[in-house]
Amino acid sequence: MERRPEPAELMNDFSQALAYSEADFAEPHDRFIALFRETFPEFRKSEKVMDLGCGPADITVRFAKAFPQTRIIGLDGAEEMLKLGENRLQTSGLSHRITLIQDTLPLHDSSYPCDTLISNSLLHHLLDPMTLWETIVNICEKGSTLFIMDLMRPDDELTARQMVTQYAAKEPEILQQDFYHSLLAAYTPAEIEVQLDKAGLTHLQIEAVSDRHLIVHGHL
Ligand SMILES: C[S@@+](CC[C@H](N)C(=O)[O-])C[C@H]1O[C@@H](n2cnc3c(N)ncnc32)[C@H](O)[C@@H]1O
Repeated sequence: MERRPEPAELMNDFSQALAYSEADFAEPHDRFIALFRETFPEFRKSEKVMDLGCGPADITVRFAKAFPQTRIIGLDGAEEMLKLGENRLQTSGLSHRITLIQDTLPLHDSSYPCDTLISNSLLHHLLDPMTLWETIVNICEKGSTLFIMDLMRPDDELTARQMVTQYAAKEPEILQQDFYHSLLAAYTPAEIEVQLDKAGLTHLQIEAVSDRHLIVHGHL
C-alpha cells in the first residue's frame, strides 16, 4: 500500500492532544523502555538525553524514572502537547531533570546538548523523513546512543483497520482515527533503509519488534 501522509505534522489541536495524552500507552511505552534497556544494557547515565517529538512527555517521564541518573530535554513543535507535558512533569515531580522545549524539526545545529537520542512515533509524522535523520546528524555528538521507535506501515488498509480494532477498540473515536492515519503514514523497513543510506547512517540497525512497531538503533 502506498504511504498516505498524516493530515498535519504537528499535533497542535487541543482535543487531539488531550485524547493522545489521556490514552493508555502504558504497554507500548513500557516496551519502549524495555527495548532500550535490552539494546543498550550498559546505559546508566547521561546529562544530555534528547526526546525528539516528545508530545505530552509520557515516554520522557518513563525514561527519567527508569534511568535516575539522567537529565532530559523533551522537544516538540506543538504547544498544546507541551502544556500537557508540563502538567505531567509537575505530577511526576521530575521537573528538575526534564526540560520541555518548543521547537520544530529540522534542527540545523547543536543548540541542544545531546549524547543520547530517543524518539517515539515522530518519524511517521514527518512529510520529509530526512528531517529526522539530518537533525540527528546535526545535533548529536559523535558516538551518541540512538534509539528510535515507530509504527510500521501494514500491507493494506484492511490490515490497518483490523489493527485499530485489535489494539485501540476501547479508545475514543478521535484516537482510533489518529492510529489509523498513523498506520497509513508509517514508513516500511525498506523505506527507512533508503533514508539511512541517504543520511550516511547505514550502520544503524532496523528491527521489526511487533506486527506494527520497528526500532532503529545504534551509535552515531
Ligand atoms: C504521535 S506523537 C508522539 C509523541 C510521543 N513521542 C509519544 O510517543 O507519546 C508525535 C509528536 O511529534 C510532534 N511533531 C511532529 N512533527 C514535528 C516536527 N517537525 N518538529 C517537532 N515536533 C514534531 C507532534 O507535535 C507530536 O507531538
